[in-house]
Amino acid sequence: MPGSDVAGVVAAVGSVVTEYTVGDELFGELAGYRGGLADLVCTRPTLLARKPDWLSFAEASTIPQAGGIAHRATADVRPGDRVLVNGAGGAGGVFVIALAKHAGAEVTAVDRADKADFLREIGADRTIDFATEDWADERDSFDLIVDLVAHRSPFRVHRALRRHGRYAMVGGLARILLGTAVAGPLVGRATGKRVGVLVVPQSRAEVEAVTALVAQRAVTPRIDRVYPLRDAPAAFARLAVGESRGKLVLEASEG
Ligand SMILES: NC(=O)c1ccc[n+]([C@@H]2O[C@H](COP(=O)([O-])OP(=O)(O)OC[C@H]3O[C@@H](n4cnc5c(N)ncnc54)[C@H](OP(=O)(O)O)[C@@H]3O)[C@@H](O)[C@H]2O)c1
Repeated sequence: MPGSDVAGVVAAVGSVVTEYTVGDELFGELAGYRGGLADLVCTRPTLLARKPDWLSFAEASTIPQAGGIAHRATADVRPGDRVLVNGAGGAGGVFVIALAKHAGAEVTAVDRADKADFLREIGADRTIDFATEDWADERDSFDLIVDLVAHRSPFRVHRALRRHGRYAMVGGLARILLGTAVAGPLVGRATGKRVGVLVVPQSRAEVEAVTALVAQRAVTPRIDRVYPLRDAPAAFARLAVGESRGKLVLEASEG
C-alpha cells in the first residue's frame, strides 16, 4: 500500500518501546516508504518524532520525506550559490527551493509553465518551463543541481555545473539512477565536479532537523488539499494530472 509519511496518535506500543507511550502525538516516515494509507500503521519508533503543538497533523505529515531530502540536498549551500531544482513544483522541490533560499542561494526552479507563479511565491528567482527550455544546455551555471525527476545522463548534466559544483540525483528513472551511481564518480574525476545519487537515510534526527527549520519559518509546509482517506483515488488522480500545488493529505477517520 502506498503512503510513506504519517502523523497521528500512538494507539499501542511494543514491550521494548521506552521513548513513546499511548496517546503521544508523533510523525515520521514509514520504513520502506509504504503502508501509510491506513487507519492504523505499525512502524519503528526510531523513525518517528514528537509532533510539536504548533503544527497540525496535516502539516506534520507533509514534512518527513520531502523535508529530509531537501535538508540533505541543501546542507552545503552558501550565500550567493546558484541552485537549480529540477521537478521543483512537487513535494520535494517546494522544500528544496525554500531551504536553498533560506541559505542565501539564487534559485532556478524547473517545472511546467503553469507552476511558475507558485514557484516564485515559494521563493524561486527564476523559473524554467521544461517543455520549452532545456536547462542542461546551459554551461558553467550552477553550484548545485538537485534533480527530483532525473532523465539525463551524468555525462550531460555536469556541463551545467560551475567549477566544483555538485549534481545530486534524488529521484527519476531507474536506469539514470544506476548510470549516475556508476558513472558519476568517473565524471567527477575527469571534471572536478561532483555528480552522484543522493541517498537520504530515514531517521528521527532528520525529521527533527527539518521541523526546527519550519519553526524558524525557513520553510512552510504547503498543503494543496486534504481528502478523507476513502477519497485516496481522487487524490492520486489530481497528482497524476499535475494539478496540485503543494502536498495532498489523506485524513483517516477517528476511532
Ligand atoms: N534519494 C532518496 O533517498 C529518496 C527517498 C525517497 C524518495 N525519493 C524520490 O525523490 C523523488 C521526490 O520527488 P517528489 O516527491 O518531489 O516528486 P513529485 O511530487 O512527483 O514532483 C515532481 C515534479 O516534477 C514535475 N515534472 C514532471 N516531469 C518533469 C520534467 N521532465 N522536468 C521537470 N519537472 C518535471 C512534476 O510535474 P507534474 O505534477 O506536472 O507531473 C512535479 O511537479 C521521487 O522520485 C522519490 O522516488 C528519493
